[in-house]
Parts: sequence; structure tokens; C-alpha cells
Amino acid sequence: MKIELINNKKVILDADGSKKEIHPFWLRERVSESEHLDPGTQQRLFDPATMNFKIDIDEAKIDGKYLNVKFNDGISSKYEIKKLSSEFAGIDNELDSIEKIQWDCNFKNIKNFEYKDGFFDTKEMYEMLISFYKYGFVIIKNIPTKNNFLIQFGNSIGSVKRTNFGEHFDVKSKPNPNDLAYTGLHLTPHTDNPYRNPLPPCIQILHCIENEVSGGYSTLVDGYTVSEMLKKVKPEYYNILSSVKVRFRFIDKDVVLESWSELIHLDQNKNFKSVRFSTRLDYVPILEKKELELYYEARKYLSDLYNSDKYRIEFKLMPGDLMMMDNHRLLHGRTAFNPNEGRRFLQGCYLDFDSTEGKLRHLKRKFGIN
Ligand code: OGA
Ligand code: ZN
Repeated sequence: MKIELINNKKVILDADGSKKEIHPFWLRERVSESEHLDPGTQQRLFDPATMNFKIDIDEAKIDGKYLNVKFNDGISSKYEIKKLSSEFAGIDNELDSIEKIQWDCNFKNIKNFEYKDGFFDTKEMYEMLISFYKYGFVIIKNIPTKNNFLIQFGNSIGSVKRTNFGEHFDVKSKPNPNDLAYTGLHLTPHTDNPYRNPLPPCIQILHCIENEVSGGYSTLVDGYTVSEMLKKVKPEYYNILSSVKVRFRFIDKDVVLESWSELIHLDQNKNFKSVRFSTRLDYVPILEKKELELYYEARKYLSDLYNSDKYRIEFKLMPGDLMMMDNHRLLHGRTAFNPNEGRRFLQGCYLDFDSTEGKLRHLKRKFGIN
């Protein structure tokens, strides 16, 4: 990506041979001198939405790494060409450039991270977040197990999202549970809270406080790997599962929550965006019998993939271990356990993606990482 000038009046962006003129007002909006842009907040001190956008460039010059522009409204500004280029590269290039790595049961060398004082502003935290974006989960060891520390953990990355279960929830077997998670039952791979509107929680944290039972292993499946596999081997299943919306529903004595979504949700370019899957909570709409036949066949196939040994990893969370996972990408579950064998106690909470994204950009800025 290069910047060129025509007659010192027009600024041209040359992206691999394709040349486009940059609108003068696009540059005018980006003047960064302190009388136009507050140096502390980096927020504008003028309002471009109210200005006349039919503006011209009186003179433009390239001076090494900088572009100098004099506009015909009397304002001049100096731009760092590298900064402009990064804006041309895409809306959110720094996060889009972290490639998702698909994994299955052969994913053995999981790098665990170790918590220590000051962790939240370290390079290690940065690496932890990169790992989270690549694989959809991370495990951090040695997290204090007293005083609901997971809330402090979540709030040091972003802001914990409160739900009808509270700021956090305690996963242990209890009498009259309002969710089967609060029993010793086996939980098949699922995503949490698919019934939330508009979206289920993005990031889920599960922190192990006690685990004295012989079962109760944690399981994870990469929904991205499975969806891409399904697309390859059974395109007709993939198509119906990514086009029919089903109703997810949660009820207890205080609330009835409902939301509609495809089991495999695609973005506008028909690429993978997220999965929702919870066979305790989904209701397929009434369709033509033939279509429903295909839907049920497809859902069974998908469920078999999610539940197969080929895609699942299984491990035991021990006291102090905290697992942070992408609830839009991964499915999680646990093997059954016998509550009479001893205590098993996990604490959970949710965060939005803007927490981890914001923290990651901050750490990149702090450590000068490109
Ligand atoms: C949950 C859940 C897993 C576990 O509470 O949503 O999936 O290991 N728990 O108990
Ligand atoms: Zn769950």
C-alpha cells in the first residue's frame, strides 16, 4: 500500500496497482493537531458531521514518512503515512489478522498460563489473549480461590456481564436446581445461554475452586472445526443447519428467556461466525415434514460429530485453574460425577468480546507491538 500525489492536489492510494483517490474530507476529518484533537482522549474538538464536506486540497506534499496537506479552508495537517495505511488495511485488522487455528482431539500441547501479581498488564497477558483468539480458550493456573476472585479476574480484563444468574454463578450440585449444570449429571457438549437475545454471552469463565470427585472432567469441542468439516462432507446438512432458526428457551420461577438462531451462524460473506447448541433447550420450528426429516438427520449428524471422540478434548480442572473460553466458537461439557464422593465446585461468569479486544489493543499499544 502506497500513497502518491497528482499535481500536489490529489492524494492517491495505490493498493497493489489499484489506484483510488482519497476523498479530501476523509483526510480533513483526521487532522490530529492539538487544536483539533484533544491529545489526552484522542477525541475530536470539532464536529465533521456539521461541516461542509466539499473541501479541496490546496497543496499536498510527501516528506519521508509523512504526508502534509493544506486544505482550502485554511487548515493544515501532518499525517503519519503508516497510520493511514493501517486504516486502509481494514476495519479491525489487528484482530482479524489473528488466525483461528482449528483443533480436534489431537490437540495435546495446550500452553497453560500462570497467574501472578500484576498479570493483567504483562506481556504474558498479551500472549494469553492471542492464544485465546487462536484456539478459542485458555487455561490459567494458580488463580486465587477465595472471595470470588473470578470477578476480579474478569473485571481486570473488561467488565463482567451480569445475567439472571447473577454476576457469577456457582456450579455445584444442589437440591431443586434451576439448571442441570447444578447436578452431578453428564453434560454433553453445549454452548451456554443460547436463549439470550440478541446474543449469548461471548466469553465464559469457569474457575475451579474445589474438585475432590473422581469424575467431573471438563470437555471442549471446537465448533469451528466441526462446522468446517460438516461443510466439506455434508453440504446439504450444513446448509439447512445454517439457515433454519430454532427457538432456545430457558424458564425458571422468575423469568422466561427466548431467542431464535441457526445452530451454525454465518456472517454476511457466508463464513463461520458462531455456533449455538444446547439439546436441553432447543425447539425446532414446524416445517414441511420432508424438510424436518432433513433437519433432524442433519442435527443428529452434527450432534454425533460434537459428541465423537475425534473432536473432544478432556481434562480435569484442579483448584486454582481458570478456563476462559469463546462461547460463540467452542462447546463445553463435563463428564458425570458422584456428589457423594466429595466436593466439586466451579464458579462461572461471562464477559463480552469488547473486553478482550480492548485489552489486547491496549497491550499492543503498551508494548509497541505491530
Ligand atoms: C455450566 C457448565 C461445566 C462443569 O455450568 O454451564 O457447563 O464442568 N459446567 O460443571
Ligand atoms: Zn455450560
